[in-house]
Amino acid sequence: EKGGFASFMDKEIHDQPQAVGDTLLGRTDLEGRLVLDDLRIDESVLRTVDKIVVIACGTAAYAGHVAKYAIEHWCRIPVEVELAHEFRYRDPVVNEKTLVVAITQSGETMDTLMAVRHAREQGAKVISIVNTHGSTIPRESDAVLYTHAGPEIAVASTKAFLSQITAAYLLGLYLAQLRGNMFPDEIAKIYDELREMPGKIQEVIDRGARVREIARWMADTSSVLFLGRHVGFPVAMEGALKLKELAYIHAEGFAAGELKHGPIALIEPGQAVFVIVPSPRGRHSLHSKVISNIQEIRARGARTLVLAEDGDEAVLPYADEVFWVPQAPTLLAPLLTVVPLQIFACELATARGLDVDQPRNLAKSVTVE
Ligand code: BG6
Repeated sequence: EKGGFASFMDKEIHDQPQAVGDTLLGRTDLEGRLVLDDLRIDESVLRTVDKIVVIACGTAAYAGHVAKYAIEHWCRIPVEVELAHEFRYRDPVVNEKTLVVAITQSGETMDTLMAVRHAREQGAKVISIVNTHGSTIPRESDAVLYTHAGPEIAVASTKAFLSQITAAYLLGLYLAQLRGNMFPDEIAKIYDELREMPGKIQEVIDRGARVREIARWMADTSSVLFLGRHVGFPVAMEGALKLKELAYIHAEGFAAGELKHGPIALIEPGQAVFVIVPSPRGRHSLHSKVISNIQEIRARGARTLVLAEDGDEAVLPYADEVFWVPQAPTLLAPLLTVVPLQIFACELATARGLDVDQPRNLAKSVTVE
């Protein structure tokens, strides 16, 4: 069933265009308005929500961190992202006006389930974003928004992650529509841009040969750092998590702006650092700030592995290697930039002779607290 791929993980990386496309399917009505028909919470409740708390674990939590940027921007509702096991045990402030969004591939993660129960006891409404039909968490939620990634076999999550971001974005657009935060044509434009993403994700996968080659060369490396800013920050965290999970080497993700406040002390000659560069076409001035970060670490001898948007020549003077991704709106870029990092971890672990589908000590779904 691996469809000719060496591992389920490799197959699931290649499934991603379809997983995102399927998650977007059938979400608009005849007038082009977004409809999330498996959402069963009174619209009046969703109109008065004054805070969203995303609860999840592992990769699903990084999907939540990405979604925070989009939902806050589109809906003007504060979004907190909490690891489910931390949320549950710190007396969180939740009430009837809190919308809890639980993100989980399996729908069975015990930490997340406990957090869902706790939130509902406090009166919060819970929408779960889940991949596995018939699992426990959607049954215990007020509403569910299914991702349509298909079964994910490899322990390390890939296609579920991209579908979770997609589903959370749909939820954000739906809330913006319901609450009147955006004009219908603005929402339609973003939805159209989302629908272009499967083709662009395919493009990133098709360009994977170079990142695979670099991963094989780096099979004996002992530490890799990942830097990103804005939505690139959770992508950096996810890139590091993948490498830890699969290759068992030290990897850490940082917010690029935090570099000068500590992590730059780690930079010594030869240290490999992935840098996720925001689009130069973005509204913020973040692009030039991240370019300065690359310059700073390069000056201290780092080997810079740069993810940049097609045509962004500003990265060239400071990059030892550039992995190009197609142009995309800033908020949608994580659906592209994470893919080379998945491929890198999968390939590097394989080159080390490891089983990427069944990493040591890990389980696909953790059903104990
Ligand atoms: C971990 C898995 O144990 O659980 C991760 O190894 C996953 O891949 C995390 O992201 C959360 O799982 P779920 O099923 O709740 O998304």
